[in-house]
Amino acid sequence: MARLDVTETFHHISFPGHIHTQDSLNYACHFKFQDRDTVIVTYPKSGTTWMQEIVTLVKNRGDPQLSKTVPNWARAPWLEQYYSAKVLGATQGPRIITTHLPYNLLASALQGSKAKVIYVARNPKDVVVSYYHFHKMAKFLPEPNSFDEFLDSFLEGSMSYGSWFDHVKGWTKQAKVLANVLHISYEDMWLDLRGSMEKISAFLQCPLAGEELTSSLRHCSFSSMRDNAMVNYTLVPQEIMDHSKGKFMRKGGAPLLNKSTILTRDMFQSVPEGSNSTIGLPCTHSAV
Ligand code: A3P
Repeated sequence: MARLDVTETFHHISFPGHIHTQDSLNYACHFKFQDRDTVIVTYPKSGTTWMQEIVTLVKNRGDPQLSKTVPNWARAPWLEQYYSAKVLGATQGPRIITTHLPYNLLASALQGSKAKVIYVARNPKDVVVSYYHFHKMAKFLPEPNSFDEFLDSFLEGSMSYGSWFDHVKGWTKQAKVLANVLHISYEDMWLDLRGSMEKISAFLQCPLAGEELTSSLRHCSFSSMRDNAMVNYTLVPQEIMDHSKGKFMRKGGAPLLNKSTILTRDMFQSVPEGSNSTIGLPCTHSAV
């Protein structure tokens, strides 16, 4: 089956040309955020879909109706993708918007905005392993060769959506100084989903009580999302995602974190292809 991996380069960063255009990327950089918007920001494979589900459930007070009937890309569209002007322009009321853009490309659009931004970061070892597997199934990304080669591109920051390091550095810096930017990690969510959900719902000024919280937790668990066609990407046609090459909801790695660990290239050396990403331990906080 042919691959669709045309590249669109924008501000020296590569984007999959199948879903991005110069116009859509420009539109994102000049977007008019509204104060009631919630913006989910991630580097790919860092828990984007998970946060889309969490925010949907929080905003709907644990009612899974929307989560079970509307695909994630329709209820929390990507700002920079080709359809966004049409979809976001037509959306009434508070919007949930998703983006993989680095901070420098959104800085001026967000200047002075009161939109609530949630930045999710994930440790780079699990990101690169997850991204490697995703490249195998996503036909709009280049077919990866060996994991070693892929890792080199990741460390150089030359793959789609640019450098993980720049992305995390740019956004976490903002989270330290701006009250409307919340930084949470995939690992925080994995270790304490209840506490994370409470933190997110408080940040969104939508605190959940009793059954609302229990229901939200149930519906955004790995197993529930794995079986939900609205978020597991099985609705995406085979020509775009080759489902015989892997699953989007792959493992949901259980990270072993040591916050004092310094990220070095050596940490990646022992990751064989297809290995379980839980064996590693680098952590975002010390890596940037
Ligand atoms: P793995 O490939 O390591 O399994 P994104 O949505 O940013 O593309 O990230 C996808 C990653 O998040 C995948 O990681 C996926 O399994 C994981 N993920 C999605 N939902 C999850 C959940 N409810 N719990 C844990 N991990 C989840």
